[in-house]
Amino acid sequence: MPSATKSLMSRNQWSIETNTAGERSLLERDMAFSIQGNSNAPCVMSVRRAEGIWLEDSDGRRVADLYGNNAHHIGYRHPVLVAALHRQLDQLTLAPRGLTSETSIELGETLARMWGDPNAKVGLTPSGGDANDAAICVAKAATNRYKTISFYDSFHGRNAGTLSVGGGYNDRRMLGPVMPGTLKVPPPWRHGDEHLGLDEEDYARHSLNAMRTVFEYERDIAAVVAETIRNYAHVPPDWFWGEVRALCDEYGTLMVMDEIATGLGKTGQLFNHERFGFRPDVTTVGKALGGAAMPVAGMIINPDLDLPQESDIGYVTHEKNAMSARAALTTLQIMETAALADRSKSLGQIARVRLDEVASRHASVREVRSAGLMLTLDFRNPSFTRGQAEAFAEASFRACVEGGVLPVFPHAGSITFSMPLVISEEDLSDSIEVIDKSLAVAETH
Ligand SMILES: Cc1ncc(COP(=O)(O)O)c(C=O)c1O
Repeated sequence: MPSATKSLMSRNQWSIETNTAGERSLLERDMAFSIQGNSNAPCVMSVRRAEGIWLEDSDGRRVADLYGNNAHHIGYRHPVLVAALHRQLDQLTLAPRGLTSETSIELGETLARMWGDPNAKVGLTPSGGDANDAAICVAKAATNRYKTISFYDSFHGRNAGTLSVGGGYNDRRMLGPVMPGTLKVPPPWRHGDEHLGLDEEDYARHSLNAMRTVFEYERDIAAVVAETIRNYAHVPPDWFWGEVRALCDEYGTLMVMDEIATGLGKTGQLFNHERFGFRPDVTTVGKALGGAAMPVAGMIINPDLDLPQESDIGYVTHEKNAMSARAALTTLQIMETAALADRSKSLGQIARVRLDEVASRHASVREVRSAGLMLTLDFRNPSFTRGQAEAFAEASFRACVEGGVLPVFPHAGSITFSMPLVISEEDLSDSIEVIDKSLAVAETH
């Protein structure tokens, strides 16, 4: 068993030591002006060019991007998207408030059709957090209630409203009181108390029971706000969402399902509710919707909801930005034509078999989790303290980057690979070899 106890140099120091003078200078200039947050700093590389699954830094060094912040399902600069955006740029960029364009209309119609209800309402926003914030407002207005139930250890964005429903301590600390009525229950996934030895079924049952208690004592809940499949490949048991749906129906509560990180095919289906066989009231999408080119997100709303006409919910300046709409529409067309959600499922199975083999060679891996092309190696091992698991995840992450593969930044003692849905089998295979070697490197620390 690797010790993983030696303290690693800081990520900043590592960046300085492993980058060339040119790269270092860019990273330092970035650091001088950027707000340095927990999850966005220090940057590990600059990007001069990107194409397909590849990022290239200022020295021309190429890295396979298995992170993309879940925004690169169709890869970078997909040629069909680039051509469509050029044409759009030559014609129309923004339809300002109170006006519309056929591009935005077609996007709304397409999202509604794909969601399974051609009459669904669609609201478009520049970011996922905005879409979630608006979706919470929709739920409040439609139910005339204000309380929400969401999960500890969840994330829904950095707006004041979404930070209030999000369940991460680090996201909310130092920001004072949250929005009133934002109630939290334990999530249905493992979240730090692995020493209890609970399995996923136990976690989900515990979560559901806690939710039932909140319903019984609070009653007038506007919405359950949750990720159908949590980032980092946390998939609840098949029965979970059906039971939540039944509870919501009993109490007149809406289900607002956030599919911003794990939706649009990443985990093997276009909308994750399809996998669990329930109907949400509102689904939010974002990130990959813009084809790794434009910032666009949206909410898709059950048309039967009683939305007050006089409210201004969901309106933002760039609601009908034609460049964003073109990016989203073309991305969805690319995904549909190439059946990328199915590809994610089948290629994900191949990747899973390979990663299981890797895990069998490394005692440091506690478990492999996966859903489509999102795959996680979890190092929260009984023989590691939490700090050791986190240090091991960081060491593996750095070894991967040095080996030419960029994973998702480490989270809670694990590393995740969010593979673009267009990755070739060869690149996938080569990447897994790098991952295998990287674990061996981390074990020498
Ligand atoms: C599940 C989930 N919801 C919402 C958001 C917020 O999206 P954005 O950063 O586009 O506001 C994120 C971003 O990471 C996310 O992972």
